[in-house]
Amino acid sequence: MDKYTYKVTAAGRINIIGEHIDYCGGKVFPAALSLCNTVYIRPNGTDKINIEWTTLKNKVALDINKLGEYKDIGYGSYQAGSAYMWSLNGHKIVGCDMLQDCTVPFGSGLSSSAAIEVSTIAALATIAGERINAVEVALAAQRAEREYSGVNCGIMDQYASACGKAGHAMLLDCKTLDCEYVPVRTGDYAIVIANCNKPHNLVESKYNERRAETEEALSVLKDKTGAACLAEVTSDELARYGKLLKSNVYARAKHVVEECERVRLAEVAMKNGDMVELGKLLNASHASLKELYEVTGKELDALAAAAQSHDACLGSRMTGGGFGGCTVSIVKRDGVDDFKRYVSEKYEKAIGYKPSCYDADIADGITVTKL
Ligand code: GLA
Repeated sequence: MDKYTYKVTAAGRINIIGEHIDYCGGKVFPAALSLCNTVYIRPNGTDKINIEWTTLKNKVALDINKLGEYKDIGYGSYQAGSAYMWSLNGHKIVGCDMLQDCTVPFGSGLSSSAAIEVSTIAALATIAGERINAVEVALAAQRAEREYSGVNCGIMDQYASACGKAGHAMLLDCKTLDCEYVPVRTGDYAIVIANCNKPHNLVESKYNERRAETEEALSVLKDKTGAACLAEVTSDELARYGKLLKSNVYARAKHVVEECERVRLAEVAMKNGDMVELGKLLNASHASLKELYEVTGKELDALAAAAQSHDACLGSRMTGGGFGGCTVSIVKRDGVDDFKRYVSEKYEKAIGYKPSCYDADIADGITVTKL
């Protein structure tokens, strides 16, 4: 790596609770992970961004004057989109060589794309001699995901990837972007991350569909309630006006209203170190994502059910967008090995292949190291 001048990283993330809430303007509770994307970078004095990967043979050269034109190139499009949006924010893009090394498993629901986008922008800003404003980087990365990659996502992933803090979860108000860092003190319990390994995740279209359904709910409820976003609708208001919504739209809105309440309770539970209560909230969140929001699927349901049935587990739920990817479970530390073995066997029996577990710490968001 000695030919590069900087090493810049940005994190993957878990979301402890508050799922499909960010784009509804509510509070979410993610934490950045030590699984991350690393960009090794140096300026090259040309008008090209040359990209290589540690895990791929591909090499891509992007013309810094045509960054808007790489949507369909496959590998390299996240980097192109990120650089493009950063340039649209008025930042100078410097020609460079970069080597990308991602330890966030792709398609895992742990936000590999956010980690790539955020670290790429942070790396470009670094070699341009800029002081990094992590929130601005997160917002540009979100714009890249939405306008370049076509996923109409909220801000949670990019914010966690950029602004995460080791040992802390982030209570992020997605309407105001106010963020409170809450120490993750789980005592005798560990947070275990497991991937259901479902192949071929068709997340994008379903994700955008859910988002449209919540917008439909808000368009009906806002006149009645004065709510500016769906997360502001109370359960009493939903009970009163819910009959105005189509049944699927009502179910989505009910999930949002109740999940916001679970986030409030989870904040208290985490601050009190009450893992039993937190575990119950995780289970309730998964049930709601399965029954009301319909973003789980048989693989995530089997994985969460296997986890929930183990004695050492206080609670388990899918994390991230859903339809595949990972669960997070709260598991007694001295039972973790047995838990992993048990869940793996039970899941394989139900689905036909094994899940994977990841060892990760709660880590910082963007890091910059001069080489
Ligand atoms: C994906 C999106 C986020 C968020 C989650 C669901 O990860 O990128 O913005 O909406 O799904 O909570």
